[in-house]
Amino acid sequence: MLIDTYGRVATDLRVSLTDRCNLRCTYCMPEEGLQWLAKPDLLTDDEIVRLIRIAVTELGVTEVRFTGGEPLLRPGLVGIVERCADLDPRPRMSLTTNGIGLQRTAQALRDAGLDRVNVSLDTLRPEVFQAITRRKRHDDVLRGLDAAHTAGLTPVKVNAVLMPGLNDDEAPELLAWALEKGFELRFIEQMPLDPQHGWKRDGMITAGDILASLRTRFTLTSEGEDERGSAPAERWLVDGGPARVGVIASVTRPFCRACDRTRLTADGQVRTCLFAREESDLRGALRSGAPDEEIARLWRLAMWGKKAGSGLDDPSFLQPDRPMSAIGG
Ligand code: GTP
Ligand code: 5AD
Ligand code: SF4
Repeated sequence: MLIDTYGRVATDLRVSLTDRCNLRCTYCMPEEGLQWLAKPDLLTDDEIVRLIRIAVTELGVTEVRFTGGEPLLRPGLVGIVERCADLDPRPRMSLTTNGIGLQRTAQALRDAGLDRVNVSLDTLRPEVFQAITRRKRHDDVLRGLDAAHTAGLTPVKVNAVLMPGLNDDEAPELLAWALEKGFELRFIEQMPLDPQHGWKRDGMITAGDILASLRTRFTLTSEGEDERGSAPAERWLVDGGPARVGVIASVTRPFCRACDRTRLTADGQVRTCLFAREESDLRGALRSGAPDEEIARLWRLAMWGKKAGSGLDDPSFLQPDRPMSAIGG
């Protein structure tokens, strides 16, 4: 079991498969990209599967999410999913992606055993998409979303980060579109994880702003805490349900007390939190021939150092050194 000193148990593992991405969202990556990890520093497919096996069979992990960077850029993704689907007990598996390339791979991922996907899409307007992501790939994302739905990678969830002056007027429009498509939309408060360190609390769009904007067009009723469990998204029934909309309010309504997550970076470091300042190296142990029990021990030890929360509200808060794309959302 991966338990921390606050009694929280991590059963949800987020695995970053690459730090690279084919978009350059302003809240995540600079135009020129980042200093990418060198190939020898990345975990191999075998190493990833071994760590997931240890997490699932020895440490009580039941949910595995593949992230990045952009996980679809990892050539071995389908094979990794396939091998993890053979584990006993079989973990539930999901993918967080920008959707580019999903049109081609959705069915293969489903056949390999992936359960569902979350796709990032902040706007329905191609020109705004280009301003946010610095790439003209809006159509690819829309096609990827449809392919995921057709392949049965459901519920398909859509993640939208709202930013002032860019897309903050789009919340009702996005929700109407998601309802029509049958996607579960979640709005995300922007977090201070951008490489430019340009995030300002005063300027961000809050959960309160988002809900007020949605209520100009929809009736929202809270789903209640019982349904929420450890999920970052707080959900509302739209116009009486059954459709729902979520808000992930990491900044104004933090959910760290119920956190059930552990993270693995693409270079084999355990991170106990998105905002952790320390990492624990598993790659070194893997490559020096450590047995499963030793890896499991190191992972448990890492989780013992998990802090109570993100620390966003502390006056001394420091943004993590690694940006979101390297940590694995
Ligand atoms: P499901 O609800 O299980 O589908 O997944 P999820 O919402 O946890 O995952 P997803 O990858 O779609 O992430 C959505 C947003 O939540 C992203 O902005 C993540 O960075 C954020 N997020 C995920 N886990 C955490 C966490 O532990 N803490 C915080 N503050 N944010 C998180
Ligand atoms: N704040 C909030 N969400 C972010 N994401 C990326 N960077 C940030 C940030 N700084 C979102 C992406 C994606 C998910 C993995 O995290 O839009 O949906
Ligand atoms: Fe890529 Fe996701 Fe970062 Fe956008 S938010 S640049 S899709 S890693």
